[in-house]
Amino acid sequence: MMKKILLKGPFIAATMLMTGTALTASAANEATVTPRFDAIDSTLTIPAEIYGQFAEHLGTCIYGGLWVGPDSPIANTSGYRNDVLGALKELKVPVLRWPGGCFADEYHWTDGIGPKENRPVMVNTNWGGTIEDNSFGTHEFFNLCELLECEPYLSGNVGSGTVEELAKWVEYITAEDGPMAKQRKANGREKPWKLKYLGVGNESWGCGGNFTPEAYSNEYRRYQTYCRNFNGNKLYKIASGASDYDYNWTKVLMKNANRQMDGLSLHYYTVAGWNGSKGAATKFSDDDFYWTMGKCLEIEDVINRHDSIMGVYDPKKRIGLIVDEWGTWWDEEPGTVRGHLYQQNTMRDALVAALSLNVFHRHTDRIKMANIAQIANVLQSMILTKDDQMVLTPTYYVFKMYTPHQNATVIPLDIKTDIRKVRGDRNVPTVSATASTRDGEINITLTNIDLNEPVEVNIPLADVKAGKVKGEILTAANIDDFNDFGQAEKISIRPFDGAKMSKGSLRVKLPAKSIVNLTLRK
Ligand code: AHR
Repeated sequence: MMKKILLKGPFIAATMLMTGTALTASAANEATVTPRFDAIDSTLTIPAEIYGQFAEHLGTCIYGGLWVGPDSPIANTSGYRNDVLGALKELKVPVLRWPGGCFADEYHWTDGIGPKENRPVMVNTNWGGTIEDNSFGTHEFFNLCELLECEPYLSGNVGSGTVEELAKWVEYITAEDGPMAKQRKANGREKPWKLKYLGVGNESWGCGGNFTPEAYSNEYRRYQTYCRNFNGNKLYKIASGASDYDYNWTKVLMKNANRQMDGLSLHYYTVAGWNGSKGAATKFSDDDFYWTMGKCLEIEDVINRHDSIMGVYDPKKRIGLIVDEWGTWWDEEPGTVRGHLYQQNTMRDALVAALSLNVFHRHTDRIKMANIAQIANVLQSMILTKDDQMVLTPTYYVFKMYTPHQNATVIPLDIKTDIRKVRGDRNVPTVSATASTRDGEINITLTNIDLNEPVEVNIPLADVKAGKVKGEILTAANIDDFNDFGQAEKISIRPFDGAKMSKGSLRVKLPAKSIVNLTLRK
């Protein structure tokens, strides 16, 4: 039974105020999504980097997931899995963050260059005590970015590293001449790589050194000073930011270091808590499901609050909010290695991905990048691998469906939809949506989180004449369905013919628990 509520409370207030979507209540099973073509601001494009990925030395994300080495029997190109490369190319990955995460603040880059047999091994103390042989290092990462045609995003070691170490890493990668360039050339790479995104530490309030915000501000200012721009390379320097609701961290960083930073990060996981069970990835109640939708959407309130603190010190929004870790975090799958954080991925995760991307689209004035955690075999991954098999998750298909939104201009929407109160005292709209336009094409993506009921969605198109409407849908028979090894895919993008033009409006029968993208062309 749907429960109607009055429009009140922090979530709704924030939603009404933000750019992009105004939300009001409507009858259950009916919604209106009105594109406000008159309110399009051509400066509000969706940075492709919002579709960023994150590769960490954690479990089998790198080893087995992306990299099998050139001598592997698994089909590969210079050590990178062919199946995974092919799948990732379809996503048009714009940026890849590496090597962590918590791993970054224990990583010493000089261990990962030169002949493999000479590279020292280390214990990955953050993630299960696994032995790291450093066979995937700087060259392997930058070459992967070249293959994927994406920007590299390096996470530098502040917690257990030195200023000199980080400064020399930047020099090794980007300088044309000098001692570090000489070493790089001796290791087989003549030309420097380009490096734009440089993170100075990760979660510096926790696994990255347990700094106070005051102490980290000083460290940040010092470290970034010596990370130089060599030979025309221009670094975009990102300070390690807050987690979730830690507004004081943002305030102190912005007060003390705003002039030295280009970006400030934010981590937000859709997680039940940090102690005790986080819940199983594939077994959950309807109530758990709706709680998840509420928790995921709360990121909007969190973004609004960090943004408004940033605005005090940076009203012109020069500094980007970089959501460089986000996604669902469930219990590790039974029978997997503890500390490897391997989790399955259901239609519930797909809906979290869609709702989160919709939120990011609404805040492109401040959010310049987001990196879902992680690209393969860890938290809300695109890809799962087992030996030579590969599974594409429902989240992968959301990212694929959303590719037309990359670099497109936001179309603000007014949405009338039923609002439900969920556990945790949060208000969740039944229908969410995002829309954008690029190259004469309009893409409207709709989400219905109701587990049982379809919703009739009316989309008035004003005087926009859409000659052709192409529809695609991602849905599942059951919300806890997932794609698994050795089985036919249960969830993938299928054609959708439930949208019809009628008297200047699109009428859409939006199935329960579904994500639908409509592409309108003249
Ligand atoms: O994504 C897993 C871990 O979560 C990352 O290593 C860390 O930054 C965060 O706490």
